[in-house]
Amino acid sequence: MAYTAPRGTVDLLTEETAKWQKLEQILRTISDLYNVKEIRTPIFEYTELFNRSVGDTSDIVTKEMYTFEDKKGRSITLRPEGTAGVARAFVENKMFSIADKPVKLYYMGPMFRYERPQKGRQRQFHQFGVEMLGVENPALDVEAMCMAVTIVKALGLKNVRLVINTLGDAKSREMHKQALKEHFKPYLSELCYDCNQRFEKNPLRILDCKVDKEHEAMKTAPKTLDYLTDESKAYFEEVCALLDDLEVEYEVDPNLVRGLDYYCHVVFEVISDDPVLGAQATLGGGGRYNSLIEELGGPVTPGIGFAFGMERLTIALGASDDKEEDGLDVYIMPLGEKAISLSAQILAMLRANGFKADMDYLKRGMKAQFKTVDRMHAKFAMIIGEDEVAKEVVNIKDTSARSQETVKLEEIITYLESKMEG
Ligand code: HAM
Repeated sequence: MAYTAPRGTVDLLTEETAKWQKLEQILRTISDLYNVKEIRTPIFEYTELFNRSVGDTSDIVTKEMYTFEDKKGRSITLRPEGTAGVARAFVENKMFSIADKPVKLYYMGPMFRYERPQKGRQRQFHQFGVEMLGVENPALDVEAMCMAVTIVKALGLKNVRLVINTLGDAKSREMHKQALKEHFKPYLSELCYDCNQRFEKNPLRILDCKVDKEHEAMKTAPKTLDYLTDESKAYFEEVCALLDDLEVEYEVDPNLVRGLDYYCHVVFEVISDDPVLGAQATLGGGGRYNSLIEELGGPVTPGIGFAFGMERLTIALGASDDKEEDGLDVYIMPLGEKAISLSAQILAMLRANGFKADMDYLKRGMKAQFKTVDRMHAKFAMIIGEDEVAKEVVNIKDTSARSQETVKLEEIITYLESKMEG
């Protein structure tokens, strides 16, 4: 039988991982600029955490979670997203007592959702996410959005839009919910089974139904913006004014509600119109969540955050063509049995001195070894034959200048250092 990776998962082979490392490095550098520190939480959590936070009427919880019982019969779920785990860790580790707020955290790693796989959508996928906890201030919402925009710009992505909306505070959402109930009531028999369930438990979720999205009633549904309390309206207006002051371009989409239950006030998505992304145009999304920490047993702590799908960022990033950057400094070519021991010693010395180096272990002829030098994009080829061993020297060929020199063993490091500097 042929073994295959499970549906919806992929192997990232060496060319791909180089691209991922580049992406991760950019994300870490930008996090550092924004004074956001890394947090690592478990890949699985107790199922109840996601039911409570992401919401038991959301598609994620009702249809997409990888849930199983462990050997003691506890219900465990592979994390479908990162916010819930970070919020749980924040409460459990009493991070609310950290004096300097907001507490700004980032994470990256695998997430799991049982979805229909397609380009940019997998069952095991990766997110880079940011959570900023402990402050409710439109300027911080704007900082989160600016950070998201900075990331897509740093990756050189074009045709990217920041789309925002507000869900308002609890009172606004309650009024909107009532309006949605009245609006959808006459259509219930035409809507899918799930929407009927959502109608009872959380009518807002009807708006992101994938089955009924073309139904006429969706287009005429009451908008969040029409049900905002004065405070919520003022908050949103301030967010928009700050974005204007910072000359950050954005669009307001009154239909943007996002698929997770913990949001209030500002929600946003970063959407790319680049055709390479196919149907998966949403690079990332996020929003404010002011009661999540309290729901999970912590003190009242407002929060805002966002997450990007890293697969989508790598697709958008395109193929890395900078092979030279990944090349070796030195490739050692032992010629003959007697050269092996000395080659291995020099290899260890080169690495200890910070040179990226490798050697031939296949006892091949010169021509075959030079082919490897080319394929590895090595800056220098070091040729060591039996003669060189006897004379305690090596031959170093500079592959770009195509010149070759004989160098004494004790001078190898200084020689290479001066050549590399040059
Ligand atoms: P989300 O919108 O569910 O938000 O996911 C964020 C991003 O993860 C999506 O925009 C998409 O790029 C990527 N994504 C989601 N599902 C998949 C999949 N099956 N395959 C590939 N990529 C996927 C959240 O998860 C929130 N926790 C974001 C957040 C953080 N809100 C506040 N803080």
